[in-house]
Amino acid sequence: MSLLTILRYPDPRLHKVAKKVSVFDTRLKRLAEDMAETMYDAPGVGLAASQVDVHEQVIVIDTSDTRSDLRVFVNPELLWTSDERIIYDEGCLSVPGIYDGVERPARVRARAFDVDGKMFEVEADGLLAVCIQHEMDHLKGKVFVDYLSPLKRNRIKARMLKEERELQREKKRAS
Ligand code: NI
Repeated sequence: MSLLTILRYPDPRLHKVAKKVSVFDTRLKRLAEDMAETMYDAPGVGLAASQVDVHEQVIVIDTSDTRSDLRVFVNPELLWTSDERIIYDEGCLSVPGIYDGVERPARVRARAFDVDGKMFEVEADGLLAVCIQHEMDHLKGKVFVDYLSPLKRNRIKARMLKEERELQREKKRAS
């Protein structure tokens, strides 16, 4: 297994639309394993393939306190969303250090495939429901800051670009 590099907002590759997975092979299993390792290492509760520059419909999620409930969703679809909505303070491994409220349906029912190509359905509420929707957005090229006001988004963009420049400078100094 290996750690993958997570793209940082506002990298334009985060806005690519992911394609459906058509072959359930060892390459897909390896990708899901590497994504899980990257998510646990970060640490985060979810990661979409788009965030590691693989533009295929794969997400990994673990919202458990014990970090022992890994869920892999391949080609996920929402079958149903509740009329009831909640505002949750979301964060994202591609936008480190930024948290802000996003309003979404409180409950969802989703259908997806596991890495072996077996279809499953899940009904979720709370953090898992938020996480499924957040990660599925990534596959459509959407980052949670896209829901915020243009003013907030521009501030976040400026802060991320400044941090990116500092990171590059540090890297240069270290080499
Ligand atoms: Ni995210």
